[in-house]
Amino acid sequence: MVTVRAPATSANLGSGFDVFGVALSRPADIVRVEKASETTIDVTGAGSQYIPEDPKKNTVGAVAEALDAPAHIRIDKGVRPASGLGSSAASAAAAAVALNELYDRGKTREELVPVAAKGEAVVSGDAHDDNVAPAIMGGFTIATDDGVTRVDADIPFVACLPDIVVSTRDAREVVPKRTDVSQLVETVGNAATLTTGMHRDDPELVGSGMYDSVVTPARAKLIDGYDAVREAAFDAGATGVTISGAGPTVIAACPDEVQRDVGVAMLDGFADHGVEASVYQARIGEGAQLL
Ligand code: HSE
Repeated sequence: MVTVRAPATSANLGSGFDVFGVALSRPADIVRVEKASETTIDVTGAGSQYIPEDPKKNTVGAVAEALDAPAHIRIDKGVRPASGLGSSAASAAAAAVALNELYDRGKTREELVPVAAKGEAVVSGDAHDDNVAPAIMGGFTIATDDGVTRVDADIPFVACLPDIVVSTRDAREVVPKRTDVSQLVETVGNAATLTTGMHRDDPELVGSGMYDSVVTPARAKLIDGYDAVREAAFDAGATGVTISGAGPTVIAACPDEVQRDVGVAMLDGFADHGVEASVYQARIGEGAQLL
């Protein structure tokens, strides 16, 4: 039997749409696998009632098939689905690392990224490595068609998950099809600033590089209270605020000493709009770990 913990992740970070991702120190999914003649899946934990246990419809079923590794797979969800915190990626990443170990497939972490992405495509209809890459490799990741670049970084984040549902499909439909050159220039500048901030463990640079005027404003309309929460987080000392992945989680970067205040401010911001929310105080963390 093999057990693996894989973390929640935050994709995009504003300026890195479909490219940037970070592993968060919490929450996380725990996946336990045992060899079996055919794959069966049990799901418990946060939002498990919405997750199909049929291997053809579950993200880990596709991972087991891709690795030719049939197993009894138990998933304990710490990451609620449709949260913008890479819920299906966490399960897929944990299953890929666990089954690779169970069946001694000998794949490297980097080689497991496309395997886990195949699993994610089962639920999202589209494979993006920006969640599975950090879920498997940890740290800050830059996922492009040429592969994944990983940077070790230590930045405090606050992730505030409102009790509303935004479908990834809707969130992708509102993404503008075109942008102008001035926005391209701005985005390149912000993405470069953010990447430099990661190398320097500098929450100011990371925060200012999270600004995005292309995708985030279009998606913000899908999240009740987004503008108020963003403003409240900045007032409490956040250095950058944006939508985590496709939402509805709102994520803020901040210095250590204001992390708690930022979390409280974001909760209050949602509460002022009649939206209940939970908050995770996290840092950039490890990728999937064998337990
Ligand atoms: N980069 C993706 C998006 C993450 O923002 O739509 C969710 O799959």
